[in-house]
Amino acid sequence: MVQRFEGRVAVITGGSSGIGLATARRLASEGAKVVIGDISAEQGKAAADEVGGLFVQADVTDADQVEALFQTTVDTFGSVDVAFNNAGISPPEDDSILTTGIDAWEKVQKVNLTSVYLCCKAVLPHMQRQGKGSIINTASFVAVMGAATSQISYTASKGGVLAMSRELGVQFARENIRVNALCPGPVNTPLLKELFAKDPERAARRLVHVPVGRFAEPEEIAAAVAFLASDDASFITASQFLVDGGISGAYVTPL
Ligand SMILES: NC(=O)c1ccc[n+]([C@@H]2O[C@H](COP(=O)([O-])OP(=O)(O)OC[C@H]3O[C@@H](n4cnc5c(N)ncnc54)[C@H](O)[C@@H]3O)[C@@H](O)[C@H]2O)c1
Repeated sequence: MVQRFEGRVAVITGGSSGIGLATARRLASEGAKVVIGDISAEQGKAAADEVGGLFVQADVTDADQVEALFQTTVDTFGSVDVAFNNAGISPPEDDSILTTGIDAWEKVQKVNLTSVYLCCKAVLPHMQRQGKGSIINTASFVAVMGAATSQISYTASKGGVLAMSRELGVQFARENIRVNALCPGPVNTPLLKELFAKDPERAARRLVHVPVGRFAEPEEIAAAVAFLASDDASFITASQFLVDGGISGAYVTPL
């Protein structure tokens, strides 16, 4: 494996599961020191141990805990070169606008969107001081396309992540800090598997729109994050980086 992150430090929120965990493994395998910031202590510690990194328990909706996550990283390893702001939720009570209550709306906005604001706000001064950095914020393909199977607050939150990332990418471009929004298509994570194992019709309704004919594996998303985080992506900022198996480009898919 090429060692693109030798001597570099990466913070990954939501790093104890799914896309975050696959990314922790990928960045560590390329030489990064990885810091996992997650609300889940047991899984987070296990993930950090596996990749020889550090676990910092943090609720990404809490400004003080987010500050502490990045400060602890810098105090321990001397820098923070990559911030993968990835923690997110998609609870079942977030559904059609007609049935989704304000509590469900606000909870999703806080975990998916306010968290990204807090993480960027906390990490940017460190990166300004270093004179470099790469921030990757996890949005989703639903930030660029509409679904009749709505999760209204989730979709709105990801649209917010996309717009905020673009703006930050532009604002900090001349300080050698890149900010990109990662937009994964549907990924084969435990959550998705459970949902679709219970309901094959729901899975089929979505799969028909995927030109490659399957959902992504977390490792395929991690590979894209590693690219965006690395110097290979030195001219890529303020982008909506779609890793979606062609979904957003498709009208009619192959039989
Ligand atoms: N799985 C998909 O199909 C898919 C598609 C597009 C985008 N995404 C996005 O990718 C990101 C990761 O998704 P995943 O599928 O790997 O999910 P996951 O549920 O496997 O992992 C999410 C992680 O975030 C952590 N987390 C949740 N709330 C937190 C909080 N308040 N503070 C700190 N950590 C918290 C969880 O403990 C967990 O480790 C999310 O932002 C999600 O919206 C997922």
